[in-house]
Amino acid sequence: MMETAIKIQNLNKSFGKKHIIKDLSMELKAGEVFGFLGPNGAGKTTTIKMIVGMLHLESGSIEVCGVDVEKDFEKAMANIGAIVENPEMYKYLTGMDNLKQYARMRKGVTKERIDEVVELVGLSNRINEKVKKYSLGMRQRLGVAQAILHKPKVLILDEPSNGLDPAGIKQLRDILKNLAHNEGVCVLVSSHLMSEMELMCDRVGIIAEGKLLDIKTIDDMTRAVTADVNVIAYHVTDASKAKEIVDEYVAALDIDEESKTIYKFNVQDNEHFDVEFPVQIVDELWKLNKKLAMADVGLISICPQENRKLEDVFIEMTANGGDQIA
Ligand SMILES: Nc1ncnc2c1ncn2[C@@H]1O[C@H](COP(=O)(O)OP(=O)(O)OP(=O)(O)O)[C@@H](O)[C@H]1O
Ligand SMILES: [Mg+2]
Repeated sequence: MMETAIKIQNLNKSFGKKHIIKDLSMELKAGEVFGFLGPNGAGKTTTIKMIVGMLHLESGSIEVCGVDVEKDFEKAMANIGAIVENPEMYKYLTGMDNLKQYARMRKGVTKERIDEVVELVGLSNRINEKVKKYSLGMRQRLGVAQAILHKPKVLILDEPSNGLDPAGIKQLRDILKNLAHNEGVCVLVSSHLMSEMELMCDRVGIIAEGKLLDIKTIDDMTRAVTADVNVIAYHVTDASKAKEIVDEYVAALDIDEESKTIYKFNVQDNEHFDVEFPVQIVDELWKLNKKLAMADVGLISICPQENRKLEDVFIEMTANGGDQIA
């Protein structure tokens, strides 16, 4: 088990009378890329600002590598590299001079280390140009270089893909994964796009209206929406009668209890419903359909649905601040 890098417990924050972060707790491990995923205004940046000491906590606690950020600020910050909002840079200096400037504020950054990070973020051939000539993507890379110069154990990037083209996003993704998986850094990235988190992260924490709804590995999420579930839409003569029969059928199935929890019966109206079935019974659905017909439920149509995408699940989960879940 990897060690805990960031530990947040019962975090709360209000702005004026607005309660923005609501009792948020989560633990991030060394060696993982953790995605903080939520729609606009969910509270991602606010939480991140509290971790990096740009905002005070109202209640609760945050520890970075075992150090409390409020009680021992400097020591906690020594373990963090971060880009929150726009990284500060001197536009009239070259990329290299910016890094040298920054290195002076950090302990123990050697010239070799500077060259190493420049190489790592792929800026070697442009590092001696002035930053004002850089594109947004190049500035982002320089920001990452700056944030990892002192070899922090925790790297935090708020919406790192903003403004990057697809190739740039892929390169950034590879850099972050490499830092986490090969160097044991805990990388925290935020985003409002599931599709992006899916490719970049090992785990995601989903936040909506200041509440943490769920933390899952990407593997588990993908499995849950694709492999194990089959959604079948029915058009019948009597949906409520059908529900009784389907409930009974699934309850009596000889499959493990966990698979049974996948089962969901969603009624649309008197004649339409869809059912989410665990995948191992789909081949035997004819048995269920026969039962329905025998009970005089007319089967007008039966349509297997396309598997849902993670993005749809995320949008559904975070709608109305996650009311359906909480
Ligand atoms: N300084 C502030 N004063 C008052 N309200 C604030 C302040 N900063 C943030 N908020 C409010 O807190 C809520 C959360 O904002 P936050 O910036 O943390 O969201 P976010 O998840 O980062 O969203 P986005 O995806 O748009 O960046 C919003 O309703 C925002 O208006
Ligand atoms: Mg934000």
